[in-house]
Amino acid sequence: MPQLLILPGSLRQGSLALALAHAAGRMAQAQGATVRLFDLRALNLPVYDGDIEFGTGIPESTGQLIDAIVEAEAVLIVTPEYNGFPTPLVINAFDWISRTKTGPQRPAGLDATNGKPVGLLSASPGPLGGLRSMNFLRAYLQMAFQMVVSPRQYALSRADQAFDDQGEIKDAKAKAAVEGTIQSLLKLAAALKA
Ligand SMILES: Cc1cc2nc3c(=O)[nH]c(=O)nc-3n(C[C@H](O)[C@H](O)[C@H](O)COP(=O)(O)O)c2cc1C
Repeated sequence: MPQLLILPGSLRQGSLALALAHAAGRMAQAQGATVRLFDLRALNLPVYDGDIEFGTGIPESTGQLIDAIVEAEAVLIVTPEYNGFPTPLVINAFDWISRTKTGPQRPAGLDATNGKPVGLLSASPGPLGGLRSMNFLRAYLQMAFQMVVSPRQYALSRADQAFDDQGEIKDAKAKAAVEGTIQSLLKLAAALKA
């Protein structure tokens, strides 16, 4: 069973991205994946600062995220859009990863992310569904982390009206698009593994 690591870009109560991450996780399970939904907020990472890096050092909790990425066969990032960008929660966590170096404990930095398949979803109450944020995220993950970003992505627009009481996506077309995005990611992961 492929292991899918899901990273929501928001974990606030009532987060639309988190709701989409949960719905996507259930779909991935239905497609045969084992799913780990990871709480980036729980890492308590400070905003990147060189004085921290060269003072107290890279926060230990960065290693938890690296281990989760290394263990997973594919990563799915589900982000809201802040002023056209992915959230600082996502970018800051990856910026910290980029400062780590492979050691006896674990592969790190590019050794942890290079060649790892990653899929993208976004959610927003707006009409574009956070689409612009994914385009920046795609470039960032490819360029700086050498991740293999799945060509298929999906932006869930009007996300504040998208879910039913069970947290499922109401609109059949939107649901099929999320399922298709996951399917493409899992197919990519299987092809890279082979
Ligand atoms: C700082 C900030 C900037 C935002 N910028 C955008 C934006 O560029 N595009 C958009 O569609 N929504 C934008 N929004 C609205 C968010 O999409 C909305 O608050 C969403 O619910 C946040 O995601 P979450 O529910 O997963 O926490 C912004 C919200 C905040 C707080």
